[in-house]
Amino acid sequence: MLLSQKMQDALNAQIHAEGYSANLYLAMSIHAQTMNLEGFGHWFRKQYEEETSHMLKLISYVLERRGKVELKAIEAPPSQWDSMTAMFEETMKHEEHVTELIRGLADLAEAERDHASRAFLQWFVSEQVEEEATVDSILQKLQMCKGSPGGLFALDHRVGKRE
Ligand code: FEO
Repeated sequence: MLLSQKMQDALNAQIHAEGYSANLYLAMSIHAQTMNLEGFGHWFRKQYEEETSHMLKLISYVLERRGKVELKAIEAPPSQWDSMTAMFEETMKHEEHVTELIRGLADLAEAERDHASRAFLQWFVSEQVEEEATVDSILQKLQMCKGSPGGLFALDHRVGKRE
């Protein structure tokens, strides 16, 4: 069964959103390196790679359903943040936004009675739970080491171990 036009458009919009997420985290990775927080730079680079893999996963699915993939220009992300806490606050807000997008996609798949897309999207539903939990955990630690450079350096070392 071919994808409905609505479902195809929504999946293409998500491909675009994941592309933006990738660029946003790449910009954060670059900024972290300029702050000499190489561990965070590494963490955000991994995040960039993960978002790219989300985008590719969606592209493969649309192609598998014999749909049309339409890539659009991706808007430039910001390039400056006041602190690592500000970066993680924005990351948290962004991931909550992505969770809403995925919820919208899952709702649409149900409304369209597209069970294949609904099943495919379940992976993203679970992934968002994990993403939000990871980001929240780092954000809370950052808030705990507010005003303590030693705490920030220890955390930088820890997040730099992300596989
Ligand atoms: Fe692709 Fe961070 O969600």
